[in-house]
Amino acid sequence: MGKGQELYKKAKKLIPGGTMLFSKRPEMFLPDHWPSYFSKAKGCKVWDLDGKELLDMSIMGIGTNSLGYGNEEVDAAVLETVKKGNISSLNCPEEVYLAEKLIEMNPWADMVRFARTGGEANSIAIRIARAASGKDNVAICGYHGWHDWYLSANHNGGDDLSGHLIPGLSPKGVPKNLRNTVFPFHYNKYEELLDIVENNNIGVIKMEVLRNFGPEDNFLQKVRDLATQKNIVLIFDECSSGFRETFGGIFQKFNIEPDMVMFGKTIGNGYALTAVVGKRSVMEAAQDTFISSTFWTERIGPTAALATLKVMEREKSWEKITETGIKMQKGWMNLAQANHLNITISGIPAMTTYGFNYDNAAAYKTYIIQEMLKKGFLASTHFFASTQHNDDHLDLYFDALSDIYHIIYKCESDAIDISSLLDGPVCHSGFKRLN
Ligand SMILES: Cc1ncc(COP(=O)(O)O)c(C=O)c1O
Repeated sequence: MGKGQELYKKAKKLIPGGTMLFSKRPEMFLPDHWPSYFSKAKGCKVWDLDGKELLDMSIMGIGTNSLGYGNEEVDAAVLETVKKGNISSLNCPEEVYLAEKLIEMNPWADMVRFARTGGEANSIAIRIARAASGKDNVAICGYHGWHDWYLSANHNGGDDLSGHLIPGLSPKGVPKNLRNTVFPFHYNKYEELLDIVENNNIGVIKMEVLRNFGPEDNFLQKVRDLATQKNIVLIFDECSSGFRETFGGIFQKFNIEPDMVMFGKTIGNGYALTAVVGKRSVMEAAQDTFISSTFWTERIGPTAALATLKVMEREKSWEKITETGIKMQKGWMNLAQANHLNITISGIPAMTTYGFNYDNAAAYKTYIIQEMLKKGFLASTHFFASTQHNDDHLDLYFDALSDIYHIIYKCESDAIDISSLLDGPVCHSGFKRLN
């Protein structure tokens, strides 16, 4: 067992759930064997606690680092801020400069609030939108964080959020009084949304613009028209999709404007900063409700975001990462076809995933993670592209993956039993309690 697993064993005794982010739980990758912790990260490489160098062809901080780890320009700006002082009794001017920049990029909007996590930004947006609309009820589509307002949907009658990224999210501890205030609808199911809106006095619609597959049958325009017609605040959650296909929201591709949008993850290239951007008519409601927090005033977040935006705009990072993501998706499909394996690829190219269409899918995924790790890769069935990934990295990755796919083919054709190849338990998928 490496130092990482030893530390993780201790962590599970000290930290309920082992880690702060469910998606970085070692069990989600390779139970008992995932390196778990990093000592250093640079470009698209990560070093574990044993000093082993790993090429990160997986989640890249779960999508935070589209410019790669430790971008020199962003880090230089942050270091300058550290030298000058990160916080004081006065506010940092960078928050104003960043607000100005985000409004320049989103001419339909007028005002901005900042936070440090996506869940916070989502809660802020919901509070402001409820205050602006004067209504409590919200229709949602997608994943929007861990807060009470969102998890309450799983009090409505079952695992209503299961089709919205993470199955099995337990709402224990979330007041049951919030039941039937948040109504999930499925992507591209306009009639379902219409029914919810007509029967539940909805004041807010919040959705991810695009997660797995694109809009069909003018879906986004229909949602926009419905919101306008019924005086509903329309919020796009671009915490994950933002800056991966455009310089800003992916909604720009569809010529549709929301009333509010949230950005997170990659906007600070690994430093914590999230933004709620919106129309004055909605955002001013933030003055009629109390939304305030000490560390929303620290300076590293907005400094990093300003530097990140500068680099992204200059390098057109969204074009580079999309190109890399397309190569990744093609490579997966070629490898699957060459080995007569059936896979489904989803997601935008720069934030993509695939699954095997077999009963043993989770075991195959575990086997890939296990074998790729032995060959020096952090790899799963998810890939977040960064500008630091190049063709050489992809070649190395696919060379390594090729033999593994061949073995999976043998498992599917009954020549090998996959369980005989696994060094530990199969990876977890949905949310569950850890032992
Ligand atoms: C669309 C979307 N919204 C909100 C969140 C929550 O962000 P955070 O984990 O920073 O709280 C995520 C995280 O994955 C997300 O993908």
